[in-house]
Amino acid sequence: MSDADAQKRAAGEAAAALVESGMVVGLGTGSTAAWFVKALGARQLDVTCVCTSEATAQLAASLGMKLAELGETREIDLTVDGADEVGPGLSLIKGGGAALLREKLVWEASKRCVVIADAAKVVPTLGKFALPIEVVAFGHKTTALRICDALSECDLGIAPRLRMKDGQPVRTDGGNLIYDAACGRIEEPAALADALKSVTGVVDHGLFLDLADQALIGAPDGVHVLEP
Ligand code: A5P
Repeated sequence: MSDADAQKRAAGEAAAALVESGMVVGLGTGSTAAWFVKALGARQLDVTCVCTSEATAQLAASLGMKLAELGETREIDLTVDGADEVGPGLSLIKGGGAALLREKLVWEASKRCVVIADAAKVVPTLGKFALPIEVVAFGHKTTALRICDALSECDLGIAPRLRMKDGQPVRTDGGNLIYDAACGRIEEPAALADALKSVTGVVDHGLFLDLADQALIGAPDGVHVLEP
């Protein structure tokens, strides 16, 4: 196992220790969240899980975990999820796994959100990881031009790139497309978030601001706890 994987695993296992029987738990998406799901499954607690993607739902079901759709349970007590970057104040970039919309819906429906990551994800300024932007498929090339305008308003003169895999556009679980914007440095994440959300055709973006309550960061010397 690589050092990064060991750190992801340690963070996931530390997060699983936060869960208590009777909770409704949001399950994130990605390789770090998968460590959390496996560690939680192994504890065999009486919990109800709300998943942020079909991939996570498959993993959780294979572990015999009790699943529910968002909105079919009482409020989610705790959501644990990975991130692509963890910046100042626990501002995050998410969506590298194309699950950002369901992730944000579940995060926003949770009393408490804990982000788990390996140490390399912690950055002084967001933006080195290209920002995922989810758009509806209809007219997406026109929407991409409007996104360029929104990025320009934020002094980011860049063109987002349609995410492809095996020669085909990547589709999210909801059937939407993803554009990735290589921002470099995002000096004002809140302004960028607002500008992107104002574009018709943009469903959501991977900036998660003021949502994480705590971060558990796997590092060579153990798991570090970060607060906003
Ligand atoms: C999924 O869309 C993402 O938000 C993931 O949580 C994020 O990409 C982190 O993934 P890893 O844990 O695999 O790095």
